[in-house]
Amino acid sequence: MFINFWYPAEESKNISNKPLKVKMLGLKFVIWRDEEGEAQCVANTCTHRGGSLADGKVVGNCIQCPYHGWLFNGDGQCERIPSLGKLSQIPERSRIDAYPVEERYGLIFVFLGDLPEAERPTIMPVDEYDQPGWGKGHHALSLESQLCPIG
Ligand code: FES
Repeated sequence: MFINFWYPAEESKNISNKPLKVKMLGLKFVIWRDEEGEAQCVANTCTHRGGSLADGKVVGNCIQCPYHGWLFNGDGQCERIPSLGKLSQIPERSRIDAYPVEERYGLIFVFLGDLPEAERPTIMPVDEYDQPGWGKGHHALSLESQLCPIG
């Protein structure tokens, strides 16, 4: 498995305030847009009892698990556990894995490694993007997009 790399997860146009399950490197993730329109990506498996977060809903900037309502933000932090009182401390172990996201070339790129931001490789520049005579091809089965000359 090649981690510490940016992976194209989905086309930007398909990401909204409705959670979307995506699979990369054999693992499941959920992507959504928060209230500011920023794309977020966390592991799809809830740290409580393993619910699929993609079956939940977006509440504010968080994604809410459909089973017991735990709320996770885009940094993976659990912000609310409904069964706990408002004054209770949320345990740190409730955190979920979260992944850096960048939107470029009409795609959502997710960094699946653990390098600090300063050490991450850059997303490959595509100088032809949006240039006359070039278009974007999309392979539905592989979710790979590529630029190619038109005509
Ligand atoms: S399984 Fe997600 S909140 Fe319980």
